[in-house]
Amino acid sequence: MIGRVLELLAPALTGPEPVVVDANLGLGGHAEALLAAHPALHLIGIDRDPTAIERSTARLAPYSERITLVRAVSDELPEVLAAAGRPRVHGALFDLGVSSPQLDEAERGFAYSYDAPLDMRMDPGQELTAADVVNTYSVAELSRVLRDYGEEKFAARIANLVAKERVEHPIMTTRRLADLVRTAIPAATRRTGGNPAKRTFQALRIEVNQELAALERALPAALDALALGGRVVVLAYHSLEDRLTKQVLAARTRDTGPPGLPVPLEAHQPRFRLLTRGAELPDDDEVADNPRAASARLRAAERIRQG
Ligand SMILES: C[S@@+](CC[C@H](N)C(=O)[O-])C[C@H]1O[C@@H](n2cnc3c(N)ncnc32)[C@H](O)[C@@H]1O
Repeated sequence: MIGRVLELLAPALTGPEPVVVDANLGLGGHAEALLAAHPALHLIGIDRDPTAIERSTARLAPYSERITLVRAVSDELPEVLAAAGRPRVHGALFDLGVSSPQLDEAERGFAYSYDAPLDMRMDPGQELTAADVVNTYSVAELSRVLRDYGEEKFAARIANLVAKERVEHPIMTTRRLADLVRTAIPAATRRTGGNPAKRTFQALRIEVNQELAALERALPAALDALALGGRVVVLAYHSLEDRLTKQVLAARTRDTGPPGLPVPLEAHQPRFRLLTRGAELPDDDEVADNPRAASARLRAAERIRQG
């Protein structure tokens, strides 16, 4: 949805010294398109994965004068902007979740389709791995993770089987976990839908990287940093991210004054307005080109008042 992202951010980036923060730099695809489209733009790119910073530094070398790339978690956004000497920004982009290299490089341990160590850390310097979650969380904790972050109906069955199997042999690989999930799920359910391990792997990834907690802090911080007329665009890839995005944007775009007042109180007027009606979805051509885009949900908002 890169065309739509550019279109939504463009009106906010027409000033003399526009600044945009890309809170999920990844391979720098969006960053490159933004820098190419806006010759005066300064881009601050954040990613917690050192490989992403390395690769995007190489990709964005032609723009080296106009970029500040920082390895950080997105919720460190206020500190990153302050250190860059640019506490106010005109655009903010969140392209959430995992990148293609994280999914495709087997040894990162994100994918159920490869056999690899059960890792899933976006930042390999972090301690907690997916193997730690699977082998040390109690049945109750594991069920909660699978239910809350994977919306997995059979969370308790999977957690119980995992707890039983890990006693003799800790579960250290993606293949072994995927096989256990398959065994835990009723046979009739196994025949429908995609790979039964999908929801479990999503849940573990979110837990290992504390993805929702980071978004819950980072998105409000980005909204706070937006100048008047500044715009934020969020691309979410599962319903939990999208729901959280919707809630944060809804809270900032509504009148908080007491109902029924004859004249709305300025102090209670919303600071932002929504630029999208509901979540926008990719069109068929985009999904045909890039099947991973199928789950994308785009929402955007603009600052319309200071404060
Ligand atoms: C979908 S990819 C971004 C792709 C990028 N927009 C591009 O065009 O190449 C998501 C990236 O966000 C990073 N990421 C996810 N959650 C993060 C967080 N809380 N803080 C910093 N980086 C994060 C991941 O490491 C990954 O590289």
